[in-house]
Parts: sequence; C-alpha cells; structure tokens
Amino acid sequence: MTFDQSKTRKVVIIGTGFVGASYAYSLVNQGIVNELVLVDLNKERAEGEARDLNHGMPFAFASPMKIRSGDYDECKNADLVVITAGANQAPGETRLDLAAKNAKIMKGIVTSIMDSGFKGILLVATNPVDVLTHVALEVSNLPKERVIGSGTILDTARFRYLLSEYYQVDSRNVHAYIIGEHGDSELPVWSHVQIGGVPIEKYGKITDVEKDPDMINIYENVRDAAYHIIERKGATYYGIGLGLARLTKAILYNENAIVTVSALFEGEYGIDNVYLGIPAVVNEYGVREKLELDLNENELKKLRESAAILKEMTENVMP
Ligand code: 2OP
Repeated sequence: MTFDQSKTRKVVIIGTGFVGASYAYSLVNQGIVNELVLVDLNKERAEGEARDLNHGMPFAFASPMKIRSGDYDECKNADLVVITAGANQAPGETRLDLAAKNAKIMKGIVTSIMDSGFKGILLVATNPVDVLTHVALEVSNLPKERVIGSGTILDTARFRYLLSEYYQVDSRNVHAYIIGEHGDSELPVWSHVQIGGVPIEKYGKITDVEKDPDMINIYENVRDAAYHIIERKGATYYGIGLGLARLTKAILYNENAIVTVSALFEGEYGIDNVYLGIPAVVNEYGVREKLELDLNENELKKLRESAAILKEMTENVMP
C-alpha cells in the first residue's frame, strides 16, 4: 500500500526515550508521516535520534520524510502530538505507582504544547496512561474526543497474539479485547472472543473460557506481560511503538478503525467521567464513537471495579 504523501502529516513526539524512539522508528519503517519532530528535555538526545533516523531514509518505506529535533513551538501546526515522556516502571513497580510524579510532568508538557497554539489531536502513552490522559484533557481544554490515551491497545495485541499461538491461527483473524485500565485491573472480554467470526467456545478445545486454566493463563500472561519483560530487559518499547504507529495511521488516514484506546467514559456501562480502555472508532477527528459491548455480569463487575480504581487515582492527582 502506498500513502498519499502530498498532504502534510506532521507528528511531534514528546519524549525520545525508548518508547518515543521505537515509535519514531515504526513511523519511518511504515512511511506513515512526512514530517516528524522529536522533542526532549535532553535536546542532544533528540538531535541524535533525529540524525540516526534520517540516515535510514534511503532505505525507508516512503520518502521524502522530514525528521528533525525541535521545541514545543513545533506543536503549533502539528496534526498529532504524542506524549511518551515520563518516568518508567522500575522492576516491581506498578504503573499506578508512577501517577504522582508523571502527573506533574504531564501538566508541564501539556501546558507547553497548548502555549504553542496547538489544535490537533493529543495522544498520551505515558503511564499510568488512563490517569494521565485525563490530566491532559483537563490541562489542555481540548475537546474530549481529541485527547486519547494508548489505553489497552497493546494489551489487546498481546491477548490476540497469545490466542493466535494457542489456536494456531493468524493473530489478525482473532477478534478479542482487553478493556479497562492499562494495568493490573484490566479485563479480558471473553464473551466476545471470536476466531474468524466463530465464538471460541464453539471453535473448539474450550467449553467454559472463564474457568479454563489455559485461558486463565493467557489472561494472566497478558496482564503481567510488562512485568515479565521489565524483569528481563528493563523496559518495554517495541510493542507500544508499533501500537502507537497503528493509532497514528488510524488518525492521520481517517481510517475509522476500531482500536482499544483510553477514552473518556460518559455513562457507558454506568461509568462516568473516567478514562478507560474501550474499543472505539478512531479517525482524523479522534474518537468518533465508543463501542458498548454486551458484557456479561462478571465482566461488567470487573470493568466497574477497574473504573473505581482509576477514578480514585485520577482524583488524587488532578490539577
Ligand atoms: C507496557 O504494557 C509498560 O505499559 C507498558 O508494556
């Protein structure tokens, strides 16, 4: 597939640590944008990343693509600003443990973005992503559909990948969602897992997904995936980098794609005024529509518990 490169598609990445850099690398590989600006507190680092990426241009998917390091004023005419900056989890730390320090960082970053005159879409990836996306909404005063968190996009991808391994089918033919917090209280929507349109309980092997040890194991591996990776390599970044690239494509190419993002709940499932992971139709205006699945009683209970945890955490750090 080739993209129309005549339209300007400008993305600014705030934070060029492992996540920001992996995301930038995914954008280059897939030729999704034609203007990319890297902003970091450590200007030298951003400059180094920009140079390194530019040197790959002759091998890249689509050129020309302008990549440079810059400052917050670059956000003024950006279509999308993606925030990846903030402290990471140390081994043993939960995402929610980062809330207070990263909320402070988030407020400063969003203020600087808005001071530039930014009018595009804000995508937050910094953890705890649901809480910080809500902080970004408050500080930015942007319309709620234009402030999006990466939410459970990666958890959903992990879930689909593990199910695809188990059933030995292409992960793109597995329809399944992880919703709620991007973190320990997230939940699998077992009642809607389908392989090529066939509910998994009919597909074979399993008779009661919520009780089957294989399936419980798959869910636990999804929920704890980041801990397992952080124990081994200190951080996670390729998966989220690709997930952010997927979201970028949905937004900049007006795809109306259904992705699990963190969006503001406004009464869905009886939950109000909290950001949580939910499948949503995403396009160039941001979140066009949230999909309300027909959850079973157990799923509904777990989603409400997840919402309560995030609501409390969000209230504690709100400006
Ligand atoms: C992840 O799930 C740590 O949130 C990051 O990989």
